[in-house]
Amino acid sequence: MIFKNNKIILPLFWILVFPVQNVNALVGITINNMYVPDSCGAACFSYFSSFQLDCSTTDLMGMVDSSSDCLGSNKDYMNSVAWCWDLQCSDKSRSHATNYDFVKAWNKNMPNTTYTYQDALSWGKPTEILSSSASNLNMTHSALVNDTDFYILYRTNKDFIRSESVHARMALSLVMMSWALVLFEKNAVSQFN
Ligand SMILES: *[C@@H]1O[C@H](CO)[C@@H](O)[C@H](O)[C@H]1NC(C)=O
Ligand SMILES: *[C@@H]1O[C@H](CO)[C@@H](O)[C@H](O)[C@H]1NC(C)=O
Ligand SMILES: *[C@@H]1O[C@H](CO)[C@@H](O)[C@H](O)[C@H]1NC(C)=O
Repeated sequence: MIFKNNKIILPLFWILVFPVQNVNALVGITINNMYVPDSCGAACFSYFSSFQLDCSTTDLMGMVDSSSDCLGSNKDYMNSVAWCWDLQCSDKSRSHATNYDFVKAWNKNMPNTTYTYQDALSWGKPTEILSSSASNLNMTHSALVNDTDFYILYRTNKDFIRSESVHARMALSLVMMSWALVLFEKNAVSQFN
């Protein structure tokens, strides 16, 4: 009897459809902004930003801080990130982001840089490997990532993005369910009036 009523069918329809269609967009605004262009590309940017560059500053606790202008002027950093993206993230099982997405992320992370991703690639493939778990995190030349360290960072990003999107989905589902109950009660009550 209730389900013959369009008033309840329509809201229920939207409640079921809305989260699937739009949570990704919502999550995209918050989470994917931090992890541009995706979990693999973001791992390339962050892998090398933990190293001390000649333009980095350190705070009283010894934590390294590199501003976006520092990163965007440091050729070793940019050369390393560009080759990391090229070598680590070209595999579709790791990244579906395109080079165009990566270039957008490049400009977002280093808005003032005068060097492009293509420039940074053209400076040549780094030869040495820098482990992010090394005790000396000074970066005095461009480098390749350590595969093990990089994989851990990439997986951590990926798992974080997934768990955050699950949280967002759950939160939105709760909101939707509350509305479903309100609408359902309204309609159910009106059945008997
Ligand atoms: C870019 O450079 C301008 C001028 O040097 C500076 O004011 C601005 O803060 C820089 N932007 C970023 C994001 O560092
Ligand atoms: C990095 O090198 C600078 C000198 O270039 C030195 O003062 C600093 O202690 C080094 N940092 C680490 C972590 O080795
Ligand atoms: C990568 O780092 C691990 C420790 O995290 C080390 O055992 C391994 O030898 C390194 N691999 C290379 C190729 O440097």
